[in-house]
Amino acid sequence: MPHPIRLYGDPILRGHAREVEHFDEDLRAFAEEMVTSMREGAGIGLAAPQVGRSIRLIVVEADAVGEDEEEPRILVNPEVVALSKERSLFEEGCLSIPGVRAEVERPDAITVRFRTLDGKGAEERADGLYARVLQHEIDHLNGRLFVDHLGLAERNLLQKKLREIRERAADASPASS
Ligand code: NI
Repeated sequence: MPHPIRLYGDPILRGHAREVEHFDEDLRAFAEEMVTSMREGAGIGLAAPQVGRSIRLIVVEADAVGEDEEEPRILVNPEVVALSKERSLFEEGCLSIPGVRAEVERPDAITVRFRTLDGKGAEERADGLYARVLQHEIDHLNGRLFVDHLGLAERNLLQKKLREIRERAADASPASS
């Protein structure tokens, strides 16, 4: 794997990622590596801090975007500009929190504004699984994890698993970049 996935407990996952300013070859290469890491982890989305770089870049697997999609979606500096009032529960997991899954309530549809890899501005409305994954990944850029959305009782049930992952993170984490 080009970049090991940072685990729950690693401080980089709690930081506020910085805006991307340079849309250059380095950014494109890094985005490609993120897609590889996402696929090797069998994830459907990944945020840059999860592979050790605290920048506002996310990737979403094609299958999660829509049935006709063939290429993964890459969004730079994504920003949620509208949310639906309708909300629903859906089970989520995260490559940084292996073995933990829980139902999270989120808006069903969102509008997101972002830049493409070559720096062009874009806006997109998303619903279904795509909207779900976008919200999960954008949360990562703000230091937020899906377990933060759970109620106290439910989080308590996960405490032991989360502690185990945190201990693994402490053993495995390279120096944060
Ligand atoms: Ni995640």
